[in-house]
Amino acid sequence: MASISCLNGPLELDIIVDIIEINKKLLQSHVLTIELTPKNTVYKFSSFTINNNKNHVKSLSKSKNLFNLAKKVIPSGVNSPVRYFEPYPFYVKKAQGSSIWDEDGNQYIDFCNGYGALLLGHRRKEVISAVKKQLDIGTMYGAPTALEIELSKLIIKNYPSIQKVRLVNSGSEATMTAIRLARGITKKKKILKFEGCYHGAHESMLVKAGSGSAHNGISISDGIPKDFSKNTIVVQYNNIEQLESVISKNKDIAGVIVEPILANMGLILPQKNYLEEMRKITKQNNIPLIFDEIVTGFRLGLGGAQEYFGVTPDITTLGKALSNGFVISAVGGRRDIMDQLAPNGKVYEASTFAGNPVSVAAGISSITTMMALKNKIYPKLEQYCNILSRTITELASDMQISHQLNHIGSMFQIFFSGFPVIDYTTSKKSDTKKFHRFFHHLLKQGIFIPPSQFETVFFSYSHTTNDIEKTIDAYRYALKMVKD
Ligand SMILES: Cc1ncc(COP(=O)(O)O)c(C=O)c1O
Repeated sequence: MASISCLNGPLELDIIVDIIEINKKLLQSHVLTIELTPKNTVYKFSSFTINNNKNHVKSLSKSKNLFNLAKKVIPSGVNSPVRYFEPYPFYVKKAQGSSIWDEDGNQYIDFCNGYGALLLGHRRKEVISAVKKQLDIGTMYGAPTALEIELSKLIIKNYPSIQKVRLVNSGSEATMTAIRLARGITKKKKILKFEGCYHGAHESMLVKAGSGSAHNGISISDGIPKDFSKNTIVVQYNNIEQLESVISKNKDIAGVIVEPILANMGLILPQKNYLEEMRKITKQNNIPLIFDEIVTGFRLGLGGAQEYFGVTPDITTLGKALSNGFVISAVGGRRDIMDQLAPNGKVYEASTFAGNPVSVAAGISSITTMMALKNKIYPKLEQYCNILSRTITELASDMQISHQLNHIGSMFQIFFSGFPVIDYTTSKKSDTKKFHRFFHHLLKQGIFIPPSQFETVFFSYSHTTNDIEKTIDAYRYALKMVKD
């Protein structure tokens, strides 16, 4: 038995976890037993004996019909591009805990989890009851509430870099406001972003790296004039020399925005000291550093990536896990920065639905639940993710499938590539066609991961040992099916 400690800090006494090392021979003979033994619970992973060759998903005829109808009234049949995959997505009827059901009655174990939003799983009871309570007393006031103060205080309590916070609706709105704030306080024009980071669907961020060494961005969408994209500088993630050199040559940089962990290019981790160096260089040059923690906030730990890596940004954006599936995001930072926002400040930002009481109630109950259970939630997520990641790596290696598996906290992704994936270029080298086939084999086995290679697989606290067993079995099957 090996004693495992957790990157989120030492495991609590009641979550002393012993794991029997995964052994591929045992795996092959279906007798693997891994025991996680917190004081009062025994999680057992055993008996990998599910029928490998039987497709779990039976019929998708209702989804097919719905997609044909959707295409007539919704552009491309979906309300966000990533939801589409060939030949058509499944249409969801309901969800609970770690499961999601489609209109044809098929059940899937959900590892998409609202692209990271559902840290506590679907319909977490505390969140649902807070929302129901709020529905009884009003859904929209257009005037401030005490609830907004409560939520802001909870955010500030968990993020020491945040002294004031403004609530918005989406992650895109949060990063747009953060960028406007950076430009407003510095009176400079350019924003520096990293290749492969996604910060929402707005003009200055829908930009890719230009060719050559100019680093001026090129728009990736029609409808965006060059005047926008030319003010975005794009540099390579995990390349501190390039960042330093570009900053030293450009005196018009208003802000640097980064996903501290890149979760929109597959999953890519910052190399040792990369974020610390980024902080040092931006500070030396008086450039506000924006941590876009829409994915990592409340997911990597209560205090997000900034707590995990011990790096303090000037501005932070939060969303997703903040409300466990309700529509709300936030932008926060130092008081002197945040006080520039209208109406008292000169940086304009506004929204009819900002601070919506239903979403705010969901945010409060999500954060209080995560705070109350933090010593259970984060170690469990990390242990499950470690087990699954390690097992998949063992299985793929055993089958001699060229692959990379990046994981941290409750997130992981496999790349079919022979090279370490450390940035946009290396991520793009992976075999996306193979990934597409792999995704479909998993889906047929009742495992729903995001359909794109360039997304991340997310755990939720509601996943069970039984889910993990089924998932390991499905991954083994899908790996076998894509083996050359
Ligand atoms: C890191 C990051 N920032 C911003 C956004 C945009 O958030 P939204 O889709 O809520 O506008 C996303 C969305 O996935 C994201 O992953």
